[in-house]
Amino acid sequence: MNAPGAGDGPSGACMPISQVEIHGLAHGGEGVGRPVAGDDQRVWFVAGALPGERVRAKPLHVHKHFIRGAVEHIDQASPARVVPPCSLAGTCGGCNWQHVAADQQLELKRDIVANQLRHLSNVPTVRLGAAAGNTYYRRRARMHYRRGDQFELGFYQKHGDNVVDVHTCLALEPVLLAALAKVRKLAAYLPQTGSVHGLSNGKQVVLGLPVEGSLAQQGPALVMQCRKLLDDTLIAIELRGDDRQSLRIGPTTLAIDGGVYPAIEAGAFSFAQANAEVNQALVEHVCEAGDVAATQVLEVYAGSGNFTRALVSKARRVVAIESAKDAVERLKNLSGTAPVEVLGGDASRRLTELIDAGRRFDVTVVDPPRRGLGKQVVHALSLLTLRRVVYVSCDPATLARDLRALTERGFGLRDVTVFDLMPMTSQIETVAVLERGPV
Ligand SMILES: C[S@@+](CC[C@H](N)C(=O)[O-])C[C@H]1O[C@@H](n2cnc3c(N)ncnc32)[C@H](O)[C@@H]1O
Repeated sequence: MNAPGAGDGPSGACMPISQVEIHGLAHGGEGVGRPVAGDDQRVWFVAGALPGERVRAKPLHVHKHFIRGAVEHIDQASPARVVPPCSLAGTCGGCNWQHVAADQQLELKRDIVANQLRHLSNVPTVRLGAAAGNTYYRRRARMHYRRGDQFELGFYQKHGDNVVDVHTCLALEPVLLAALAKVRKLAAYLPQTGSVHGLSNGKQVVLGLPVEGSLAQQGPALVMQCRKLLDDTLIAIELRGDDRQSLRIGPTTLAIDGGVYPAIEAGAFSFAQANAEVNQALVEHVCEAGDVAATQVLEVYAGSGNFTRALVSKARRVVAIESAKDAVERLKNLSGTAPVEVLGGDASRRLTELIDAGRRFDVTVVDPPRRGLGKQVVHALSLLTLRRVVYVSCDPATLARDLRALTERGFGLRDVTVFDLMPMTSQIETVAVLERGPV
């Protein structure tokens, strides 16, 4: 069952609290259930509830066919429920699964994915991929701030858009949290509200601050204050104006994930997987699942080259598509044993050009944003891919939709594996492998 987006629908303020029996989990991690009694048997999506529980739920948004709510009281708890280790768990929306036992989280994520795929035929048993530690694992984060009587810096509150002031965090790498906290010293120079992006390599951190208006409108005072914050740990701050122009104070990219494959360069505003350890296993899995040795590979949504650097060490040739300009530049600098052809711009447009040019690929690797591939890209992949599609997804609902479309175009689902890149949250990374012809 898919839960609707947060904050939609009329407020549930005038509806009473209901006792709800939870029987499953929605793709966003909310408990799905029905009221225990009464004539109103609309489905509930209850944030903070787990399967097997009976909870009293407060309605937040009421729709014609369903109600979104949050746990008010637990009448019957699941064995998977624990006391949240974080003292901010009741208010902070940063980690919405603090109440789930660490050793149950990946199993529950597998159940969510299996449930999303239940309408497809011949779905293999969903497998569990790598997981790692549940604390201090996040090397990348976006925090929000609000300048009022006090300067509040942290994550959005649960079920609202107030900022919860975060001074300690069990998820962020300590160096990243310490660097983000320095932004408090810039309070007087920042717009009333905004967000701060941070990326760490475990030792050093770069921050990104969007500034209001164009950079030309910003006085030198902000730049001077930023400079004062830099040290051996916080090595750079990138200021980005509404016009997308950047002003860089210090070296604003970090080399991350070096080791087996060459490191990639990423900045505070770039996409990078938040969990370095599990990402390593994910990259390995994608190459193995794709069986990419000596093949022609098409990679779509390549980012700064997280998978590309591994693919070029195994494949015969790689064509990588990516829209973000800074990421495209980094892709062009990648080196490997195979040649890599980088195509900047929108995926649909670039795929159409490849079709028109008569190009074909043995294997396609896709890692789209949350919205998934959509009809046009699915159609293009079905024309361009000779053998195998490896689909890396951060949203089980759009994954299920796209897999259905791919299976309708002659691909069979061969493997589905779930990775836990974001423990203590309901976010799920899934890798699905499809092969041409029935499996
Ligand atoms: C989930 S990230 C994956 C990045 C990379 N594979 C990684 O593991 O770091 C999705 C990427 O798709 C890119 N992207 C978003 N929309 C796009 C589009 N329409 N065409 C091409 N790339 C797009 C984003 O810039 C982002 O780098």
